[in-house]
Amino acid sequence: MRPDAPGRFITLEGGEGAGKSTQIQRLRRWLGERGREVVATREPGGAPGAEMVRKLLVEGPAERWDGTTEALLHFAARRDHLRATVWPALARGAWVVCDRFADSTTAYQGYGHGIDRHLLQQLYDLAVGDFRPDLTLVLDLPVEVGLARAAARHGSENRYEGLQRDFHERVRGGFLDIAAREPGRCVVIDATGDVDSIAAAIGAAVTQRLGG
Ligand code: TMP
Repeated sequence: MRPDAPGRFITLEGGEGAGKSTQIQRLRRWLGERGREVVATREPGGAPGAEMVRKLLVEGPAERWDGTTEALLHFAARRDHLRATVWPALARGAWVVCDRFADSTTAYQGYGHGIDRHLLQQLYDLAVGDFRPDLTLVLDLPVEVGLARAAARHGSENRYEGLQRDFHERVRGGFLDIAAREPGRCVVIDATGDVDSIAAAIGAAVTQRLGG
């Protein structure tokens, strides 16, 4: 499924309030200054159909969907996003920077809601195939710091932010586990610092892993 092209696929992952959206914009600019065509996108969403599914996922009460239904919806949105946005961009040689990807499903629906890892892997194989990010940056920070930042930003909580504190601790631990299992793909970035120092750490990781 991977387009045979020189584009690169970089994903940013992390819990609530880790600053991914800000860092995606910084990374977009940084890569653009180095002459890349850059597409910045997000999950769930990033394409018209996937954005419709996003609304179903992020609005309403926390108990609206069980973990399996959520995983199915995320993978449905993901496939639409890949087909409509990510794969065409990579095929023309663009670098795609994506706010969340499948590691979020592993962390939130797997580690958070307890959905079996093998089931999630089957869904991945079905919806995504053998396509993988070239680089995944895991923005890590303590749960209470992230939730406070997210609440300050939205003024209110979305469905996921309303879940229990221990859910978010499992999500954080999940991302760190994923990074430890796949050190060739993942780099953990300390997200407790200021915007500039996090952006510098991300730039250094991209240069080191992908040559900038
Ligand atoms: P965000 O756009 O603020 O990151 O919000 C999207 C929410 O969706 C966030 O709380 C994490 C959650 N999510 C999952 O639970 N599983 C997934 O696969 C993805 C991509 C996001």
